[in-house]
Amino acid sequence: MRPTIEWKDDRVVMIDQRKLPLEEVYVECRSEEEVARAIETMVIRGAPAIGIAAAYGVALGVMGADPTRELDRQFDCIIRRLTRTRPTARNLFWALERMKRVYGENKLLPCGALGLRLVREAQAIEAEDLETNKKIGSSGKDLIADGDSVLTHCNAGGLATSGYGTAIGVIRTAFEEGKKVHVFVDETRPFLQGARLTAWELKKLGIPMTLITDNMAGWLMKKGEISLVITGADRIARNGDAANKIGTYSLAVLAKHHRLPFYVAAPLSTFDFCLRSGDEIPIEERPGDEVRQVGGCAITLPDIPVRNPAFDVVPAKLISAIISERGVARPPYSRSLAVWR
Ligand code: MRU
Repeated sequence: MRPTIEWKDDRVVMIDQRKLPLEEVYVECRSEEEVARAIETMVIRGAPAIGIAAAYGVALGVMGADPTRELDRQFDCIIRRLTRTRPTARNLFWALERMKRVYGENKLLPCGALGLRLVREAQAIEAEDLETNKKIGSSGKDLIADGDSVLTHCNAGGLATSGYGTAIGVIRTAFEEGKKVHVFVDETRPFLQGARLTAWELKKLGIPMTLITDNMAGWLMKKGEISLVITGADRIARNGDAANKIGTYSLAVLAKHHRLPFYVAAPLSTFDFCLRSGDEIPIEERPGDEVRQVGGCAITLPDIPVRNPAFDVVPAKLISAIISERGVARPPYSRSLAVWR
């Protein structure tokens, strides 16, 4: 399989995650505007993958800059455009900050050399993400015991990252070590990342899995069919509150009620140590038609009022442990996460 995202012949190529799993088609972006639209429309999604795409978008923007106009101004516009795409994923802002630094240090280079330097930085972000995911897998694998049944929500796998995954990376590492693992995959309304993407990935990896609709999780917990929950995150505040796909909060509450461990796996690029708590995390509201339709087919009338917050925040007190490339943090998070700053 080709990677989630790659730099090829002066373009960024991404697998179109809106079309999976029924079609495997690739989208090519040649400018920062095309990358920004790919992020907004969820051709590419998942916090780390959004950050990688945005980094390539910066490189494309600089390579396509107008040589007769002041570069600094054009660079600011490129950054502003990419910043406006998706507000919750911390990795987006983290990657843009990194690209800004590299631009600042190299902006006196001839334009071609500067563009290449920015491409190399985006490729470094991508390569480091893969390594980081594998470390997260090693950090978290012992939280899964032989025979466990793991519930996951949304897609925190290879498609959401450079190719290995965070929450799925932990499951995958445990599985590759020979543990018997069964994964319950929440379908994840409204965009169906679980049904379309996580189920597809797990099938390719040969990891046993069962797809459920989001409203089945509580009952399966009650029946003793789930051993633990593990999800990714889009942004984690310094007190351990973690934003992730809408529906994650409900799972954490259910896990607490059924005395099941609830784990969050994320790279340090997802942590926002400037934020005291999850109350400060911006939550993206997406278009209402994502709720009114499933796979482009209307399931209600076009003028029915809907809400579509794309994320919710799990309070730290509902999280049993947070897994990163640095290890496993336990409550109280204000103390354990401070060590990772
Ligand atoms: O709206 P999405 O599909 O970008 O949301 C993705 C998630 O919620 C993931 O769990 C999160 O970004 C972690 S991905 C490693």
